[in-house]
Amino acid sequence: MTRSTPLLAATLLLCAGTPAALADTDAVVHAWPVRQPQRDAALEARVEAALKTLTTRQKVGQITQPEIRAITPDEVREYAIGTILNGGGAWPNLDKAATPAQWRALSEKYQAAAQQATPGIPLLWGTDAVHGHNNVRGATLFPHNIGLGATRNAALVRDIGRATARAVRATGLHWAFAPTLAVVQDVRWGRTYESFGADPALVRQLGQAAVEGLQDGLKDGRGVLATAKHYIADGGTRRGIDQGVAHASATDLARVHGAGYLGALDAGVLTVMASFSSWTDSAGYVQHGKMHGNKTLLTGVLKERLAFDGLIVSDWDGVGQVPGCTDEDCPASINAGMDIIMVPFKWKAFHANTLRAVEQGRIPMARLDDAVRRILRVKFSMSVPAAVPATLEAVQAPELARRAVRESLVLLKHRPGLLPLPRTARVLVVGAAADSLARQAGGWSVTWQGRDTTNADFPQGTTLLAALRQRLGAGQVTFDADGTQHDPARFDAVVAVIGEPPYAEGEGDVRVTENLRHSRRQPADLALLQQVSGRGAPVVTLLFSGRPLYVNDLANRSDAFIAAWLPGTEGTGLADLLVAPAAGEPAWPGFTGRLSFPWPAGPCQFSTREARPWWPIGGGLSGKEAKAEGKPLPEPADPPICPL
Ligand code: GLC
Repeated sequence: MTRSTPLLAATLLLCAGTPAALADTDAVVHAWPVRQPQRDAALEARVEAALKTLTTRQKVGQITQPEIRAITPDEVREYAIGTILNGGGAWPNLDKAATPAQWRALSEKYQAAAQQATPGIPLLWGTDAVHGHNNVRGATLFPHNIGLGATRNAALVRDIGRATARAVRATGLHWAFAPTLAVVQDVRWGRTYESFGADPALVRQLGQAAVEGLQDGLKDGRGVLATAKHYIADGGTRRGIDQGVAHASATDLARVHGAGYLGALDAGVLTVMASFSSWTDSAGYVQHGKMHGNKTLLTGVLKERLAFDGLIVSDWDGVGQVPGCTDEDCPASINAGMDIIMVPFKWKAFHANTLRAVEQGRIPMARLDDAVRRILRVKFSMSVPAAVPATLEAVQAPELARRAVRESLVLLKHRPGLLPLPRTARVLVVGAAADSLARQAGGWSVTWQGRDTTNADFPQGTTLLAALRQRLGAGQVTFDADGTQHDPARFDAVVAVIGEPPYAEGEGDVRVTENLRHSRRQPADLALLQQVSGRGAPVVTLLFSGRPLYVNDLANRSDAFIAAWLPGTEGTGLADLLVAPAAGEPAWPGFTGRLSFPWPAGPCQFSTREARPWWPIGGGLSGKEAKAEGKPLPEPADPPICPL
């Protein structure tokens, strides 16, 4: 198809409703398969009966989602609010050490208030449980999705979903804003680690498994609502710019970026979160604009073509980015098909503005009723009282996490016979990240950005350093954070831990003026390896990162190089593959993790469709290979700036 000029595209859109515009809408919708609705007559009857009892003001309360720092239980009752959330780094009473019982107690206060306002219609509390119940002190944090993608193990992902749901229910919450179903096109994106990978088929398989696990037992108080997010093409933006513009043809939008949603729908996902990003149809260069205002995709594709009967929730003040809207006033997004508006702090103004818009007919009552019908359908599809105790044990699953860590590790370089280290090995551990649960867990860990925490915030966690001391004995393990205090020659091996500092969302974007050379963004990591490499002991390097990175200079100073991603709280899983099992212990099958993203061979290889990476998708060593890779990796000088 010829690339039309922006002028033609603008004309097309200005004449919305013309045959050309309708043809474009049809092309977008018809790129997707037809799915048939599956309705439950008894559920529908219950929904209709409840809908009839609600006033317009109560209906607006159902579509309004404030944040717990901005609303009290009394206000939930006064405004008949139907749903709340806690953002990353928000805890009951602003206390990051709040126990599961304290979370549960606050949830019960909100629930009681909602039930007084709208008897029989429960309140839903949503949270970003994206790698375990990660806001809660003491909860097990699993590897982020980029590591789970490397396991390629759907059954494991499903089990993690179940364990996460149990933890969320233990705290009295109902809804996990997970899984992210992005199929990442440019690893500069700060949310690359929230994705299972760059292969649509793998994202579909693991996304389906995650939803099945999270929503398992929904009707008997064990499962939680899952969220297919962020619809759509959040991982396809130009240059990986968070909340940017995704350029894709209508066909690729469905085939690549839609793959995860088809899997989630197959799993019966009940909620979808809209993406902050925008979409431009790269085939006809038609700018479809912000997803939060895109009626063709929210309603035409998701609700009609794909017969999605659940609810669509906006992202955090996402409606404010729709042209003509503000955070607190956006009939356009609701009319496009948004059912719940996540309006964390400006919710009172939103409530008033939206009620007025309905009364003035700028939001048709039929659209409001459709949104509330969907919300009630979701609420009545689950048992709200939790069948899980509010205990620390209920938010933990250490052995499952340990197994996930083992299966997520990808061995990119290995001197044959080096790993696993013998139990008699005397090991020098270097790199501050070896003793940091914050570095091990990454973003979305107790706090939103994963920063401003210490190991004390993860009492349940085990750092790699602690895990090595447990397996080898403290006397055989020496820790030297910058590697300057000890002579490596006095040890059997050096274990070096390097990596990215924690980040989340756009704060993790690699800027256009930067590139993927890790040692350029973290020069201390190169200095660390220069300090210990070639000094009489082999060096085993682990990289904690939220994305593949260009590491030739670092791998050349390592005898083994492991992509460890963001493994979470169970560092024991790392030591399992680094150190041989003791007599009688299970012998792990070596390194089974395989890349779900290509691994760059150069500092500008941002694209996940790179033709000649160091390792392709599916790459990685088992550790049992008889011979090593021959020559050192090339280390050419970086270009002054990567091509845009
Ligand atoms: C954030 C994220 C979204 C998250 C939401 C609530 O901005 O985009 O993934 O679920 O806000 O914390």
